[in-house]
Amino acid sequence: MKVLLIGNGAREHAIAERLAHDCDLYAIMSKKNPAIAQLSKEYWICDIENPEAILKAISGKSFDLGFSSPDATLAAGVSDALASTGMLVASPSKAASRIEWDKSYMRNLLKKYNVKGSPKYELVHTEAEALRVIKDYDSVAIKPLGLTGGKGVKVTGDHFTEISDGLDYAKSLLRKDGIALIEEKLVGEEFTLQVFCDGSRINIMPPVQDHKRAFEQDKGPNTGGMGSYSSGELLPFLTKKDMEDATKIMQSTVHALKKDGALFKGVLYGQFMVGRDGPKVIEFNARFGDPEAMNVLFLLQDSLTNTFLSIADGHLISTRFSSDCTVVKYLVPDGYPDKPVKDAEVVVDAHGLEKVRANVYYASVYESNGKILTTGSRAFGIIGRGETLEQAEKIAEEGCKHIKGPVWHRSDIGTSEFVATKIARMQKIRDKP
Ligand code: AMP
Ligand code: GLY
Repeated sequence: MKVLLIGNGAREHAIAERLAHDCDLYAIMSKKNPAIAQLSKEYWICDIENPEAILKAISGKSFDLGFSSPDATLAAGVSDALASTGMLVASPSKAASRIEWDKSYMRNLLKKYNVKGSPKYELVHTEAEALRVIKDYDSVAIKPLGLTGGKGVKVTGDHFTEISDGLDYAKSLLRKDGIALIEEKLVGEEFTLQVFCDGSRINIMPPVQDHKRAFEQDKGPNTGGMGSYSSGELLPFLTKKDMEDATKIMQSTVHALKKDGALFKGVLYGQFMVGRDGPKVIEFNARFGDPEAMNVLFLLQDSLTNTFLSIADGHLISTRFSSDCTVVKYLVPDGYPDKPVKDAEVVVDAHGLEKVRANVYYASVYESNGKILTTGSRAFGIIGRGETLEQAEKIAEEGCKHIKGPVWHRSDIGTSEFVATKIARMQKIRDKP
């Protein structure tokens, strides 16, 4: 079985590792990820957001199955290009991935098909409309419609307090795009629910909590994600009912997409905020999360190749996951996110990592003259696994010590103390009269 994977981050390294168990892996990357290159029979470097460049790179070759992973490639129509060559494809078409790259489509889709779990929202086109909504809703999240790598949202109380500052941000979006999305601010704990989907049916993966803020105690600017943890079928602050509700929302959304003529085959990612009224949808992504992919794929007990095949041919097989806990910590270059050091050497002590039973996934690093160098983005994902969160966290933390160079990480992610603050916060929200 020849499988073609598009992408070159830590998420794709985790996917590649699983696929390479039982297929011949081929990869297309924008920059050479040394770990993916090593797992692949052959790889090509090109602009992965350009479907024509991809078709050129693989012309004359044939593959059984393709999977395009990063959001921007899906928005550019890479899955459609792969399908045009006759291979089976397990990532969504441009039309189906619109649920991620066009937030107005997503919100209107949920409304049109009565999918529960949307916050109040309005799409605004003028400064006057923006001002009215910001005043009406009191606390808001202001967003551009398109892809921003998780960094385009500004929330009352988190990023601004004065109405005028919120309005200034909305105005800057209106100047750029002519439209902005304003939602009521949701309060609670965020979690990620990823599902495999064959267009109709879904298989859920263990829920994960990501940490978007750059600094300890969830302070600082939003990033692509600094680390994440999972703890089996539930997260410590979730109830069974929360998971059932979130699962129903995922299933209803998949049906809505089908009815809307945008059959979704691939991995659908729901970002939820669980508050007093249960889980509400913050956004959908048309792909695995990064870092969340590392958590779930580490626990997958069945073949990812077979799962992808079953997605592509529309007959989803069941997939099992271990109930172990996982903690991922991202190592990022010194100065990240504002002034990250670029082109700095980092050394991976594979033996040391093995000794503490931690795994490393290569993210945004590159190889030059036999050395591994930083690019300025997140550099390595380190994952620990254990029967308890405490064990998993300790392994991940120990693992971080075996990458040498100008990199840092959030040491609070997955610790008992930090998770306890989340449980307490959630309890307070649930108990509020
Ligand atoms: P997004 O790009 O939509 O995932 O948003 C990035 C981050 O902004 C989310 O992970 C949340 O932390 C925050 N956010 C987005 N929408 C809302 C909302 N309606 N209420 C509160 N926080 C939000
Ligand atoms: N971890 C957030 C994302 O992948 O969008």
